Amino acid sequence: MGGTGTGASFKANIEALARYRFNMRTIHGVTEPETAMTLFDCPLDTPILAAPMTGTPYNMGGALTELEFITAVIQGSRLAGSIGCSGDGADPTMFDAGLKAIAGENGWGITFIKPRAHNEIVARLRRAEAAGARAVGIDIDGAGLVTMVLKGQPVSPKTVAELRKVIALTALPFVLKGIMTPDEATLAMEAGAKAIVVSNHGGRILDHSPGAAEVLPAIVEAVGTSVTVLADGGVRSGSDVLKLLALGARAVLVGRPLVVGAFGGGTDGVRTVLARMTSELRQAMILTGCQSVQRVEADILYRT
Ligand SMILES: Cc1cc2nc3c(=O)[nH]c(=O)nc-3n(C[C@H](O)[C@H](O)[C@H](O)COP(=O)(O)O)c2cc1C
Repeated sequence: MGGTGTGASFKANIEALARYRFNMRTIHGVTEPETAMTLFDCPLDTPILAAPMTGTPYNMGGALTELEFITAVIQGSRLAGSIGCSGDGADPTMFDAGLKAIAGENGWGITFIKPRAHNEIVARLRRAEAAGARAVGIDIDGAGLVTMVLKGQPVSPKTVAELRKVIALTALPFVLKGIMTPDEATLAMEAGAKAIVVSNHGGRILDHSPGAAEVLPAIVEAVGTSVTVLADGGVRSGSDVLKLLALGARAVLVGRPLVVGAFGGGTDGVRTVLARMTSELRQAMILTGCQSVQRVEADILYRT
């Protein structure tokens, strides 16, 4: 489950988060911080979501099937008061498994489609709608995935016009995942995306890209509140979550720690990891004086 090439992009995620430190404040009245929020009209108890992940059975020696894995993620997320995402991969059954898991939870999930040919995307969009998914998206940074092409599932970059055409076809909130620059965040907005995920795909796509926490502030500045900005990459604790919220993310996605949760303890393992991070987040909020995840001030971060 490593990063691509030298692993520099994966490491950049972790290192960028580690560089930020908190101003500790304990002379205030915050004793019961609120982690609840609403995303795409879904009431959530925590701003920590499960990131879309496919192919983990391959990475983890087949101990779970694709369906078992994603069912644990989608169910465990719901039990933790969150919402989980499913993905799309070189084997078309990966997408099917994700949708099945989401349909099994009455649509309580968000599904991501690879940047395939227009008709292929639209077919999956319709299936996501039929499954009752609460939102849908494209991991646009999957544009260069060689494995997809080798398996006869071509993917490619998309123009704003192409994206606009797809996004206009659905009433579901549309998310573009894999945005790493302010200019592309603006283009995503122009294409009609309701939300973006600032993400380098956990460092699995392009070697030598910056960490999400490095680029997030400039992206938030570029788009303001006109799109919902989410972020992921290297989040391993509630403190990491709070850092991304302080840098302007509305909510955060977590990947690999939930693979550990799912393969170690199934649905309950996923729920446990999300509950632990939420509890750590609460603790960090008390010690920085944050009342609500809906308003996290940038000045909780220490700047030299
Ligand atoms: C094994 C694995 C498979 C992944 N598959 C997908 C996928 O199918 N679609 C997608 O949008 N992102 C995929 N991702 C990226 C995650 O959604 C997320 O961006 C990344 O894992 C976040 O970084 P973290 O693992 O450090 O938390 C995958 C990541 C991993 C580790």
